[in-house]
Amino acid sequence: MRASRSSSSRYTHVAIAFHWLLALALVGVFGVGLYMTGLSFSPAKLKLMNWHKWAGVTILILSFLRLLWRLTHRPPPLPAQVVEGMPLWQRAAHHGTHYLLYLLFFAVPLIGWAYSSAAGFPIVLFGVLPLPDLLSVDKALAESIKPWHGTAAFALAALVLLHVAAALKHHLIDRDGLLARIGLSR
Ligand code: HEM
Ligand code: HEM
Repeated sequence: MRASRSSSSRYTHVAIAFHWLLALALVGVFGVGLYMTGLSFSPAKLKLMNWHKWAGVTILILSFLRLLWRLTHRPPPLPAQVVEGMPLWQRAAHHGTHYLLYLLFFAVPLIGWAYSSAAGFPIVLFGVLPLPDLLSVDKALAESIKPWHGTAAFALAALVLLHVAAALKHHLIDRDGLLARIGLSR
């Protein structure tokens, strides 16, 4: 089954650029997060922590701009042939995954920021721009928030795996041209 490949069935160029830029950034920040937590206390660990926070806040800002774009530029509806081939639960999963991904784009960095504030480590973006604290210093609160940042980040990673598996299924099994909507293949 082949879907229409006309440009009107694609996301806008801006949405495609946000998708791939943020996909790369999220994978990178996730990897640095895992790596740095395994290091013992050292100047290198502190440096990585700062990079992780700066990159995480940059992702938060870009996600906000992405959401604004998304709200003002509706994606093209799924092609009729694709919709016909999808049972109701798959359509719900398609939209539900996207909603949850957006939710976590905000939740993960905001929880990280809240933890950092409560732990008493204010963020100075790129070493020059001091950001406001989200919470006042409270070590006990920081300790209870800490695991939630990792948990939310792993939930995001699990959803991304599901999302990529679904995209590959559409491409390799259904062969319905869905990847072209986000700029992959023609
Ligand atoms: C960290 C990695 C990724 C994240 C966070 C992510 C996130 C998203 C989000 C949020 C959307 C919905 C866009 C919107 O409505 O604004 C989307 C769409 C899409 N993504 Fe990804 N994505 C990632 C990686 C990938 C990869 C590796 C592929 C391909 C193998 C892919 C294929 C697609 C496709 C085909 C769509 C369009 C779905 C449709 O037709 O509606 N994504 N992605
Ligand atoms: C979307 C962006 C982000 C992702 C994907 C992400 C991901 C991660 C991951 C996977 C870990 C390791 C967790 C573990 O192994 O338990 C981590 C740790 C950490 N992240 Fe993030 N993070 C992001 C943004 C942020 C931001 C914005 C901040 C603060 C401003 C931050 C602060 C931290 C801190 C302080 C730790 C270390 C926590 C500890 O010592 O266990 N993160 N992050």
